[in-house]
Amino acid sequence: MSVHPVILTQSKFLHRDSLKFPFEERGLQFGDGIYEVIRIYAGKYYLLEEHVDRLFRSIEAIKIKLPLTKKELTEQLLELLEKNSMDGDGKVYLQVTRGSAPRDHVFPENVDANIYAYVQDLPRNLAKLENGVSVITLQDIRWDYCYIKSLNLLPNVLAKQEAKENGCYEAILHKNGLVTEGSSSNVYLVKDGTIYTHPATKNILHGCVRMAVERFTKELDIPLIEEAFTLEDIADADELFLTSSTSEVLPIIKVNQDFVQDGKPGKITRLLQQAYEKDANLTKQTVSAHN
Ligand code: PDD
Repeated sequence: MSVHPVILTQSKFLHRDSLKFPFEERGLQFGDGIYEVIRIYAGKYYLLEEHVDRLFRSIEAIKIKLPLTKKELTEQLLELLEKNSMDGDGKVYLQVTRGSAPRDHVFPENVDANIYAYVQDLPRNLAKLENGVSVITLQDIRWDYCYIKSLNLLPNVLAKQEAKENGCYEAILHKNGLVTEGSSSNVYLVKDGTIYTHPATKNILHGCVRMAVERFTKELDIPLIEEAFTLEDIADADELFLTSSTSEVLPIIKVNQDFVQDGKPGKITRLLQQAYEKDANLTKQTVSAHN
């Protein structure tokens, strides 16, 4: 994945090679910050407003003051794509930390937040979207404020690595048998035509694609119930899928070595994939259920 050369930092556009962080940076030393990952298709952001809104909810929750309005940040993010002549599929990683200051747990006074954003190429993973992925299940060992898109991702990183070591794409997390979400995605179960997913409480990240999926289900008249399902429910599921800005709407076909039904992506998942492609204006319609 290639990184584009122009980086947005402290409202300025710099070449990535000139970006230097002091080691006394609160994001590095305490994970004292938050982030966003925003999808880009054909050089245009998808769900940008939702991401900017969530970024402001996250900074408010951890009491970081940003010297920017939502509108100003949005304009700068748009300019970042222009400055990089970005016209393909990719993503922007945007990070805000409490700033650079001598190491001390208490908040530093009169220190500006550090903000930076950069663009990476990210082609759509058509084979996975078509065929689906395998997952493992793991205990959710994270903290109580998962709705904040915090930089503290150690439990998520460990879970994703364990998934990889088991030949899987994602780890589905559960709190004592109740499924919360994936290590970097939201998770859904379909049973008898109804979609179930964990409610948007403090225990999960309120995914931007999750919000879009809620909208699609209303348009398509598919019932969606915000109620956590259990590990036992999975054994009996008609379909499972996950969503995120990088994964889109992705079928889950195997859980801990057991196939979901016949091991093929389900009908409702396909409908939501189509709705996603339409909403994001994706010209290359790729999912076979379109035929
Ligand atoms: N992660 N849940 C968690 C824990 C996540 O980290 C993410 C996204 C999601 C889905 O959110 P959204 O639909 O807004 O992308 C749910 C990003 C992609 C990441 O950390 O790379």
